[in-house]
Amino acid sequence: MTKIVRSVAELRALVRGWKAAGDVVGVVPTMGALHDGHLSLARAAKADCARVIVTIFVNPKQFNNPDDLLKYPRTETADAALLQAEGVDVIFAPMPDEVYPAGFATTVSVAGVAQPLEGALRPGHFDGVATVVAKLFGMTLADRGYFGQKDWQQLQVVQRLVRDLNIPVDVVGCETVREADGLAMSSRNARLDAGARAKAPALYAAMRRAALALRAGRGDALDACRTEVLAAGFDSVEYIELRDAATLDVAATLDQPLRLLAAAWLGGVRLIDNIPV
Ligand code: PAF
Repeated sequence: MTKIVRSVAELRALVRGWKAAGDVVGVVPTMGALHDGHLSLARAAKADCARVIVTIFVNPKQFNNPDDLLKYPRTETADAALLQAEGVDVIFAPMPDEVYPAGFATTVSVAGVAQPLEGALRPGHFDGVATVVAKLFGMTLADRGYFGQKDWQQLQVVQRLVRDLNIPVDVVGCETVREADGLAMSSRNARLDAGARAKAPALYAAMRRAALALRAGRGDALDACRTEVLAAGFDSVEYIELRDAATLDVAATLDQPLRLLAAAWLGGVRLIDNIPV
């Protein structure tokens, strides 16, 4: 039976008991509105760890747009049923003042990898992510943390965070889960109307073609990708960029692990995706 826990004290008492018995503890941080992508993280954690905690917390500090925070779907009852079916041990779903009590005054800010792309377009976003992830690791006392590659830059920020602050958590990046037509699963997809949903897979399709063109040495691959996405009916493209996979610096050569990353608007919804090159 999956237990819903709201306080850090109760969570830690449980986790200390598990650890005393020698159990490895995995955590899957989420903001709820769970889909198959999240469930694949819970499954990966279940495969590796004796005990699994899924956190559900819509973190106000990572929303640079207040409207986005208000509109963020909150579906705890449905989420709990899905996690119960996966055999998750605990759902940690704290109230905001359990995470950020009165007087809370600390921000964790990662430089470098957090600065370009999403960091530049969503000021403060990665400070909010790094702060809450550091807290979730501290609150859950987990040994391993599971994150989706869908948010590639976030994954690199979390890797940097644990290295820089000596946080004893192994960060595991899990493959992006896609719909049958290639669209990367995201809680935002539910906000696409039928017309936009039909156009949405064009982003991934164009990115795959661009990755092949880049490998073939075509200098116009990124421009062609942007043109293709707009021609498919996207409203605008915020970026389509080739970056070093770990540092997210602009890629100087093709002789390093590379990632193609994109953000584009469709029907009022901002979609992001990334693939290896
Ligand atoms: O990826 C998310 O859902 C969030 O950014 C995370 C990691 C749960 C932190 O709030």
